[in-house]
Amino acid sequence: MRIVCIGGGPAGLYFALLMKKLDPAHRITVVERNRPYDTFGWGVVFSDATMDNMRAWDAETADAIEVAFNHWDDIELHFKGRCIRSGGHGFVGIGRKKLLNILQRRCEALGVELVFETDADSDADYPDADLVIASDGINSRIRQKYAEVFEPDIVTRPNRFIWLGTTRLFDAFNFLFEKTEHGWFQAHVYKFDDSTTTFIVETPEDVWRAHGLDQANVEQSIAFCEQLFASHLQGHRLLSNARHLDPLKRGSAWINFQRVRCRRWHHFNGRSHVVLMGDAVHTAHFAIGSGTKLALEDAIELTRLFKQAGGVEAIPAVLEKYQAAREVDVLRLQNAAWNAMEWFEVVGTRYCDQLPPEQFMYSMLTRSQRISHENLRLRDATWLEGYERWFARRAGVAVDGAARPPSPMFTPYTLRGMTVSNRVVVSPMAMYSATDGVPDDFHLVHFGARALGGAGLLYAEMTCVSPDARITPGCAGLWNDGQRDAWKRIVDFVHEHSSAKMGLQLGHAGRKGSTQLGWQRADEPLEAGNWPLLSASALPYGPTSQRPREMTRADMERITADFVAATQRAAAAGFDIVELHCAHGYLLSSFLSPLTNQRGDDYGGPVENRARWPLEVFAAIRAVWPEARPISVRLSCHDWFPGGNTAEDAVAIARLFKSAGADIIDCSSGQVVADQKPVYGRMYQTPFADRIRNEVGIPTVAVGAIFEADHVNMVIAAGRADLCALARPHLADPAWTLHEAAKIGFEGIAWPVQYLSGRSQYQANLRRAQA
Ligand SMILES: Cc1cc2nc3c(=O)[nH]c(=O)nc-3n(C[C@H](O)[C@H](O)[C@H](O)COP(=O)(O)OP(=O)(O)OC[C@H]3O[C@@H](n4cnc5c(N)ncnc54)[C@H](O)[C@@H]3O)c2cc1C
Ligand SMILES: Cc1cc2nc3c(=O)[nH]c(=O)nc-3n(C[C@H](O)[C@H](O)[C@H](O)COP(=O)(O)O)c2cc1C
Repeated sequence: MRIVCIGGGPAGLYFALLMKKLDPAHRITVVERNRPYDTFGWGVVFSDATMDNMRAWDAETADAIEVAFNHWDDIELHFKGRCIRSGGHGFVGIGRKKLLNILQRRCEALGVELVFETDADSDADYPDADLVIASDGINSRIRQKYAEVFEPDIVTRPNRFIWLGTTRLFDAFNFLFEKTEHGWFQAHVYKFDDSTTTFIVETPEDVWRAHGLDQANVEQSIAFCEQLFASHLQGHRLLSNARHLDPLKRGSAWINFQRVRCRRWHHFNGRSHVVLMGDAVHTAHFAIGSGTKLALEDAIELTRLFKQAGGVEAIPAVLEKYQAAREVDVLRLQNAAWNAMEWFEVVGTRYCDQLPPEQFMYSMLTRSQRISHENLRLRDATWLEGYERWFARRAGVAVDGAARPPSPMFTPYTLRGMTVSNRVVVSPMAMYSATDGVPDDFHLVHFGARALGGAGLLYAEMTCVSPDARITPGCAGLWNDGQRDAWKRIVDFVHEHSSAKMGLQLGHAGRKGSTQLGWQRADEPLEAGNWPLLSASALPYGPTSQRPREMTRADMERITADFVAATQRAAAAGFDIVELHCAHGYLLSSFLSPLTNQRGDDYGGPVENRARWPLEVFAAIRAVWPEARPISVRLSCHDWFPGGNTAEDAVAIARLFKSAGADIIDCSSGQVVADQKPVYGRMYQTPFADRIRNEVGIPTVAVGAIFEADHVNMVIAAGRADLCALARPHLADPAWTLHEAAKIGFEGIAWPVQYLSGRSQYQANLRRAQA
């Protein structure tokens, strides 16, 4: 096979040598515009796992890298005068030059032709090639040439960074944070050979501009960073080897990260098959240090497929398989890198001034959301246990004598006069099983089972404030005393037989009312007996939905009074907390979203107006709800539809509810419009809880695809939320909390005494399965 690699970075060189090794008959050329020892950048980092993978494919290269690399396990945070260190992270650092030289030498030894100082203009310059590898980096000319085929999606990120080096040697991966009068800067620092350390300085665009760095040349930029990080540099200088940059050009040394992904990775140009590899087809932010890993793994996968399938005739099929195989892994890594990158983009405004150093460290270590709580335990059990102890102590648990501190999930939490014994909440879930709004034995057993199952707080389903406030005829209500007494029976059971607290979610269905039961045709009108609907504006939910009437001021007053009466009944029934349901497109939510609120009066328009009536309802229920009991507010923090509310609006709305006296925001999303396009995933709504908690300064509940103790621990420990609500896991397993405690070996949660022998067997079976 005749192969030409355009671009002699890690991707092009490694693929060339692997293919030459696979079959010495292949004629392979790598064309590189730089000179062999002339390269930008300092050190790159990859994990131990990447090294193992490389060793399996070419031991010589792996050996040479291993001799040259610096290995370290520790991560050290320098923040607000504190230094916190944790171990077990396993990185390999190597100079980019060194890495390329090793790959170049190995290419030469195997007989790959290396052509330096040649700027390849086009794939068409190599008409004899069966296969052209476009390994020409992030600004790939080949990708641009065939942009219509490859459909690149390039996003430029807001932070500015400069890639420097220093001779000060650090013995761990260091993260340094420094505050200036305009905001925070951070440095990512890692040693990569015996004399040099990479030193990347990063800050948001506005902070960068406020310091005039957009007007600074390379020298001035370096002087600024040296002064800012002087205490860490201990007299050493910062160095630039950005020879490709104009030293006098202002601002030029500071760049923005570009996230690249492509819909298609290969193309037949009429003579040769052209395929993208490495940064040309995907980039990963340095916050997770994996761009080189991805480039090397692309090379390995394509080689593996050629090894399986054979020569020239197999190229089209191999390239299809290559994209299919790599796309998934790359996306996973890009998502993790994206989380880590975003963490560094918002750290100055969201975490630096909010989180104490211990929690800041935890938040930083879990920034990609790939390293979980239990994974941290595997890496450094001592550090994690120290953190758990710190966390528990802050939550008021006496841990000094305890052999093992409770993990964050099992620490208590207090809102006003209500203390929950752990951070697990049974999320409100409509059961569509009430008759005339009265909860019955089904509800008693349903909540009873979940109270005995260990959750700290149970929310009753959306309970409606009037008959016409119901979603379906099966919805529970609280508009009469009979309903109050039926709820009281359930609340009393929960209080008498468990330590769980019991909450009630109060709501009005608005335009989503008068529909069929959840397991029938949900959201579709009743076949008979529909009642008229009200909403912020006269817009139906779906094509077959009833058109609601736009609410008048008199409607608002009547419904506010209904909420007040229901709240008074909830107090009498003994509920510990009330949640105002302002999410999911129901009545209050229909006011908050611009998609459903198109009013021209004081209750429509900007967010303050849209929130006006929901805030009036909140104030009215707060006035009659006992002072010592908290109120939560559930919001749809994103409408998942163009023109709708986004996380930024949710922050503004949460701020308004905080001013009105809300105690905690329950951060859900969507269900506001029928044609929403949510982006689902593990813990997918937690970023909203995180942002609101740390930007608004109000406690939050995270909810949505949280289904393991590890998730809850991660969220709570990192300060991304204060409680975690789980809905579907509690449908599958009423004793979810007890079971998860057993799985992570936590003994400090009480099982109902009647069930103790079940506990022993459950634990024994788990131990047996683990063994
Ligand atoms: C600040 C920073 C820190 C980073 N840190 C890490 C890290 O810690 N770990 C990590 O894994 N990755 C890191 N990366 C990313 C890493 O450098 C890249 O992901 C990796 O080098 C990709 O390899 P590649 O071969 O695809 O592209 P490149 O390394 O960019 O190589 C492309 C090559 O093609 C050549 N070229 C381009 N166009 C032409 C042309 N027309 N003709 C001839 N030659 C051409 C270029 O000169 C270059 O040598 C970092 C990146 C940055 C910016
Ligand atoms: C059967 C069912 C009924 C639900 N009813 C309500 C409800 O009454 N009020 C509410 O705010 N959310 C309701 N939800 C949404 C859940 O509270 C929760 O936000 C959502 O299911 C995501 O959490 P999960 O991934 O743990 O299931 C319901 C969910 C389910 C599965």
